[in-house]
Amino acid sequence: MTMMRWFRALACMGCFAALIGTTPALAMGGTPEPLEPTGRWMEKSFGNAALPPMGWNSWNAFHTQIDEAKLLGSAQAIVDSGLRELGYRYLNIDDGWWQKRRLSDGRMVVRTSIFPSAAGSDPEQTSFRPLVDKLHAMGLEAGIYTDIGRNACSQGYPGPDSLLPTGTVAEREVGLYDHLAQDLALYFQEWGFDYIKVDGCGLNAFSPDKPAVKAGQFRAFPALVVSDSVNQTRVADIRALYGQVRDALMRVRPRQDFVFSICNWGTANVRAWGRDLGNLWRTSDDIEPRWARMLYNFDSVVTRELYSGPGHWNDPDMLYVGQGEFDVNHLAEARTHFALWAIVDAPLIIGYDLRQAPKAMLDVLGAGEIVAVNQDPAGNQGVLAYTSDDLQIIVKQLSTRDEKAVVIFNRGTEAVNATLTAAHLKFRPGTVIQVRDLWQRRDLPPFTDETSFALAPRESVMLRVKGLPQIADGLYLSEMPGRLYVAVDGIHALQADPQIHRPVNMGDGTTRGSGPRPALAGWGGPRADSTPYDNQLRLRGTVYNSGIGALANSRLQVKADGAFNRFSAQVGMDDSSLERGARVRFEVYGDGRLLARSPALGADDAPFTLAARVAGVRTVELVAREIGQGSAPAIVTWGEAALRH
Ligand code: GLA
Repeated sequence: MTMMRWFRALACMGCFAALIGTTPALAMGGTPEPLEPTGRWMEKSFGNAALPPMGWNSWNAFHTQIDEAKLLGSAQAIVDSGLRELGYRYLNIDDGWWQKRRLSDGRMVVRTSIFPSAAGSDPEQTSFRPLVDKLHAMGLEAGIYTDIGRNACSQGYPGPDSLLPTGTVAEREVGLYDHLAQDLALYFQEWGFDYIKVDGCGLNAFSPDKPAVKAGQFRAFPALVVSDSVNQTRVADIRALYGQVRDALMRVRPRQDFVFSICNWGTANVRAWGRDLGNLWRTSDDIEPRWARMLYNFDSVVTRELYSGPGHWNDPDMLYVGQGEFDVNHLAEARTHFALWAIVDAPLIIGYDLRQAPKAMLDVLGAGEIVAVNQDPAGNQGVLAYTSDDLQIIVKQLSTRDEKAVVIFNRGTEAVNATLTAAHLKFRPGTVIQVRDLWQRRDLPPFTDETSFALAPRESVMLRVKGLPQIADGLYLSEMPGRLYVAVDGIHALQADPQIHRPVNMGDGTTRGSGPRPALAGWGGPRADSTPYDNQLRLRGTVYNSGIGALANSRLQVKADGAFNRFSAQVGMDDSSLERGARVRFEVYGDGRLLARSPALGADDAPFTLAARVAGVRTVELVAREIGQGSAPAIVTWGEAALRH
């Protein structure tokens, strides 16, 4: 069968998405949003994730060797240790739970040898309801795992001891494909789960060329994901499939008491569109209990501060605190891993056998003042205030205007003396800054202008600071990333992000070949306090420490919610712009009405001051419109863009 007929055949079979033809407009994976303002906040609100989800997942601790005793043991430990009171409440079952799909009616069957409470009188009529009820009775919530395709990751990448679905080819098709409504009704209505993680191996591990497919073990499925090539990945089709899951969840749980976790490992440009469809979306391949791998996962989120916010969270993968290079013999690394996840608003999902957790490990996971930073209701992801290959300072604006959290992070192999300045914190020079050490749970002496910290290799300091914001009566937009929504990013062609750490142990874990290459799209997306290509914001030689950098032909939304009176910014084509010939007009809209507009500004024009009254405005929109398109993207700067009360 030709590929085209193959696709048509799929479409006719009532599958949950017709995998036919991708229109060019959708090739980037977006519903192409117009540059014109919509006048309303476009980020859809759904699900139950106003704060980053917290809980436990079986995968990093047990892989497919999960069973009911292990799950309930960790659940009990969460209750007994007080972690539940801190917010850890989802107990998520990952890959390995399924026995097969019952052929008579397509109902999924639980592997009762490991989940005995799911057994019924008929071996094919199983139910997770008793286990879910037990978790609910413990004051916890329950999560389940599936795949967007026909088959799961354990089937595509089996380990020597993987517990795999059994039976015929059809019985082993345990993923959502062709069974979306049925499976979600079973999981959320009949069994009562609250959270679902939807993996993506069905879209890349079962193509016709795969040995197991050729051998007849699995039905072929076109490789929609090409992991190292976003331009060969069928982005729009993948987005459509995950969109159908989100819509089906709304139907089975009309009160929206669900959490939807998209797990396609940062492929298919999900780092840009995950927030439209999921409550969390993986931004990278799987974490491993190794330092270098943790750096890779962290890097995949730390420059994506404008893509995260209440209800929608970048997911650098689950925690590995407790194991390998993050175990009790590596407490500095464990604390650093945890502090980093906390400050970038990552979901805090424990991946550790808590039944055997020493107190030192529970103290890391149970560091209440650090968890509180992660769970701050403003949902502002931490922003890089200083960055180098060896040391980074990440600052997160908290919901009280004069308070921020800070992580000073020594990535390298040498001890560093790191200086933290009032400018990093966007506090006024010469004023007193109060400091609390969140690991030591004690106040440090206050400072003005700057203070310093000696950091051992891989060590970090996590602080909460209080001071006088640079803007007396408001905040810079780069201090409120949780209020920003990237409606149009201005990216013409997807490019992989070259800034993400490339560890030696990617891929097959050897140094055969030429090494890992950038693979995750996102290069060129708008940034806080940086140009899209990681330069300082600069207009005619003046550096702006605060501001938003973007490509031209972009539209950013700000959720002002009637809380501010004035917007202002110094705008222009950034000195780093690749395109020098074009001109850009900057426009500010309030609930769809044009409030202020710059002249068309070229590369040599002085920065223009844009100011607008935004009293009562719910949605502010910032449009940078290129006049006469050049050959390279124009880079624009909204310097010192701020909202004031
Ligand atoms: C993928 C996911 C992991 C885990 C495994 C299960 O690798 O990224 O988090 O769910 O599948 O097989």
